[in-house]
Amino acid sequence: MCGIVGYIGNQNVIGVILEGLKRLEYRGYDSSGISFYCENDKKIEVIKKSGKIKDLVNEIDKRKLCKSHIGIAHTRWATHGEPTDINAHPHTDCTGNIALVHNGIIENYRTLKSFLLDKGHRFKSETDTEVLVHLIEHFYKNDLLEAVKKSLKMVEGTYGILLLSSYEPDTIIAARKGSPLIIGKADGQMIAASDASAIVSLTNQILYMQDNDIARIKKESIEIYNIELEKTSDSDFEQIDLTISQIEKGGYSHFMEKEIFEQPEALTNTFIGRIDFENGTFRLNGIKEKFKDLLNADRIIITACGTSWHSALIGKYLIEKYTNIPVEVDYASEFRYKNPIITEKTVVILVSQSGETADTLAALRESKNKGATTIGICNVVGSTIARETDCGIYTHVGPEIGVASTKAFTAQVLVFFMLSVALGRKKYLTFEDGIKFIKEIQSVPEKIKRILGSQNVFKSLDSIVETNYIKNNFLYLGRGINFPVALEGALKLKEISYIHAEGYPAAEMKHGPIALIDENMPVLFISLKDSIYDKIINNIKEIKARKGYVITIASEDDTEISKIVDKVIYIPKIIEDLSPLLSVIPLQLLAYKTAVKKGLDVDMPRNLAKSVTVE
Ligand code: AGP
Ligand code: GLU
Repeated sequence: MCGIVGYIGNQNVIGVILEGLKRLEYRGYDSSGISFYCENDKKIEVIKKSGKIKDLVNEIDKRKLCKSHIGIAHTRWATHGEPTDINAHPHTDCTGNIALVHNGIIENYRTLKSFLLDKGHRFKSETDTEVLVHLIEHFYKNDLLEAVKKSLKMVEGTYGILLLSSYEPDTIIAARKGSPLIIGKADGQMIAASDASAIVSLTNQILYMQDNDIARIKKESIEIYNIELEKTSDSDFEQIDLTISQIEKGGYSHFMEKEIFEQPEALTNTFIGRIDFENGTFRLNGIKEKFKDLLNADRIIITACGTSWHSALIGKYLIEKYTNIPVEVDYASEFRYKNPIITEKTVVILVSQSGETADTLAALRESKNKGATTIGICNVVGSTIARETDCGIYTHVGPEIGVASTKAFTAQVLVFFMLSVALGRKKYLTFEDGIKFIKEIQSVPEKIKRILGSQNVFKSLDSIVETNYIKNNFLYLGRGINFPVALEGALKLKEISYIHAEGYPAAEMKHGPIALIDENMPVLFISLKDSIYDKIINNIKEIKARKGYVITIASEDDTEISKIVDKVIYIPKIIEDLSPLLSVIPLQLLAYKTAVKKGLDVDMPRNLAKSVTVE
């Protein structure tokens, strides 16, 4: 969950690690802290604070700081112990000579804690993390690396850690298992962090640590060991393609707003290099080697969480339609615990924006264990899921910082569409079908631009928000390929505006939820002129007959619908199978505008974190 960053080099450490922390704040933000080595006093200093990073900065501003060029920092998403000052990281041992930041969960912390209490260690916090720093203290006999190794061998769970100690004040020790950790190298400086956004202002030379790696980082050198402390040869840095402007707001008020408006350009990046006019298909080089496995699969399982799970539902619809291969969709968090049926002809597709979601990663490992071919659909290049799957398709929409996923969703849907067409072309789709689909995809960015640039859309949204931002409940209804869009619209509203919202297949209403309808229940329909338009109009009438307040997302050539509903948002026409890419845009905007109207923190909604790296 959380973000960690550590720096060693010529610059004053506080500025560097605070900048890194701010860039990581989207990952977790209930408390934060820093620790650095004071060169004059020869001791470790720790400053930590509950709340946002600005609260930590206020605290730091009150202090007189010593000179320091080495330090570690943490922004927390609490798993064990409330988000208080004391529970914030870094945590220190009894002597205050070792400080540690941790991302993950120490699952056997209770056993370890009672062992350490018996040995006389004194604990200050309620966190699982603190046991690790005391364990390292317990094993320390003039060799920090050895003590870290012995401690990690006793730990069950997941960790990405950075450790600073006055015993070796020119060294940061880093280790990972199950939580991401990246090291960046610049002239006479090293920086380690849980993701590249905290590193790119300093360098584009990156090394991805692997599970069970332990690294000894000095300002000019790095040594990587495995858990037995045998040196590994794998300490190669690679050049990454990420710029500062990609991770800044660029004139928008929030990252979410920026990311919604970026979609035309971002989606162009998803498909641009993949169009194959000559063969009327899409070229997906990343999965070239496993393409046959997909074509010959007896079953495809798609597994993911949250928004990515919604795109998986659309993926199922498309793949089954174009290939006739049966597809199942599972929540990654459930998949692993239900003994999934996997044969060697099963292909498992893992969908994850971050590529670090612990549940999805666990599902991936279970699938591999059972012998499935695994394919990733990830956004973050070099992320753990992207690296551990047999192969994959990147969405290529650039960093998504807003906790509410927007451009990653549309890009995942687009990838599923391209994948379905590419597979379908080897089965029932004709060359002409392929060309038609390519042209439709090429029209998507322009059509999204029209929605985002439409005064009518924004006028309707503003008046919908004005009437409804005080409501406690909302229903989102859709059918067919737009049912998952209804789920996605409801999730967006829930997570950033804290209004209870449900997504339902429109026709299911009459089997129960219709009992909720009265004049206080806003109901949003996705009712495009598609194959089930007439049916959904009937569903709208059922709601109106019970005095519900109805909003619809409608096709721009629908001249009738405004007569039967309260508010309409018109979107351009497109083939049904690509319609989620347009219908979701007003829903993203509705959630965004509602949260802004309510004065909420759009990019950092309460209790959430961008990538959920704990199970
Ligand atoms: C989306 O708005 C959510 N914040 C969340 O549901 C997210 O989609 C989920 O945690 C999965 O993340 P991933 O795509 O990075 O795996
Ligand atoms: N489990 C640790 C805690 O609750 C770390 C959580 C995190 O990754 O932020 O403090």
